[in-house]
Amino acid sequence: MPHAAHAHAPAAPLSAHKSGPLSGRVRPPGDKSVSHRALIFGLLAIGETKIEGLLEGEDVLRTAQACRQLGAKILRHDDGRWSVWGAGLGSLLQPTETLDFGNAGTGSRLMMGVVAGHPILARFDGDASLRKRPMKRILDPLALQGAQVLEQAEGGRLPLVLQGSSEPLPVEYKTPVASAQIKSAVLLCGLNSPGQTTVIEAEASRDHTEKMLAHFGATVVSAPHGPHGRKITLEGRPEMIARDVRVPADPSSAAFPLVAALIVEGSDIVIEGVMTNPLRSGLLTTLQEMGADIGLENRREEGGEEVADMRARFSHLKGVDVPAERAPSMIDEYPILAVAATFAQGETRMRGLSELRVKESDRLEAVAAGLRANGVDCEIVEDDLIVRGGRVAGGAMVETHLDHRIAMSFLVMGLAAEKHVTVDDETMIATSFPAFRPLMERLGARFS
Ligand code: S3P
Repeated sequence: MPHAAHAHAPAAPLSAHKSGPLSGRVRPPGDKSVSHRALIFGLLAIGETKIEGLLEGEDVLRTAQACRQLGAKILRHDDGRWSVWGAGLGSLLQPTETLDFGNAGTGSRLMMGVVAGHPILARFDGDASLRKRPMKRILDPLALQGAQVLEQAEGGRLPLVLQGSSEPLPVEYKTPVASAQIKSAVLLCGLNSPGQTTVIEAEASRDHTEKMLAHFGATVVSAPHGPHGRKITLEGRPEMIARDVRVPADPSSAAFPLVAALIVEGSDIVIEGVMTNPLRSGLLTTLQEMGADIGLENRREEGGEEVADMRARFSHLKGVDVPAERAPSMIDEYPILAVAATFAQGETRMRGLSELRVKESDRLEAVAAGLRANGVDCEIVEDDLIVRGGRVAGGAMVETHLDHRIAMSFLVMGLAAEKHVTVDDETMIATSFPAFRPLMERLGARFS
């Protein structure tokens, strides 16, 4: 059974080299957001939840481990399917050890919601990156719902100790930033509340939690709210019944081979089974505006999500202006979009990126530093990133700051830059895309 790697694996640099045309068909790993949720809902349901296509990345394995600590029995079958026998909503076990989420923001934050809605005490911790990330945005609404934070590091950070409530209060909560993690934590806590829990978001964020709540038997209504927002209402204490989950391929992982094909001359590839949920499709929209040759073939539904095979061919891209409202639907894709923009003609302005500062690293700074080091003309103006495309010299080392998406983005850049591009550490790639290197090499990418 795959296990999360040791938290302090030594750093391993990796270089990407100018490559010939990429070709072939690949299937990226299962979606990270859906994988975390499938395990968590399995924990909360009674019976056996069978999961097909689970992402076996370190982040998700950490969530599986935490689910076990809270009372689930979890097994990986030889054919790669997973089964979860849940403890059931309201019947979670008091964990005896720290819940260690490694690098996983989503796992830790969603599980804080779960714990907050149960009369249990849990200690949460993570790696150096996760310990820097703000948890107050999660703890504030959970406190309104009745949970207590008994210990925390400065500024509401990990490690922290959370005491959940046996009777979480019904609340109506407006999220201060568009964040599916805040929304999900509140809803997961509200699941064990005797009343209704409502979350209002001004900008719609990914809706996998709402979809899965309904799939597992809860009554949840999501209605439009304002020009871009949503109001989500959940009836507490439903009977949660185990369901099968089929995890579609992760669009945030597909983004790497996708952009690689667009920037490496002569490329023509197909990426199979990619989720095309509109709340995750901002990158696709933006690349198409830039003139990318991307075709969606064989559109179908898999496990309650729209999916398609994406055919991507080398394209002469042009710079565009990316509106701030699009950020929630492509929040994890800005590093790789910035790489696409370096190969585009003209200027690309990505607006409203303040949330990038609190991801696995300060992604705004990490992207700008990596681009500059490799000879790309870019600047940060308030919360906007401006990239002026053209010559990409390469030849430099990029600091990844324990951030998998920074590592993969700059490795993709190296496939089309004049000189090789090196990242200081590729080990974190295993958090979301363990097979990144062999998958890219199958397409013709050169690494050493
Ligand atoms: C996620 C939500 C996003 C995203 C993260 C996964 C989720 O975070 O960046 O990688 O699965 O809910 P925010 O909700 O903080 O924007």
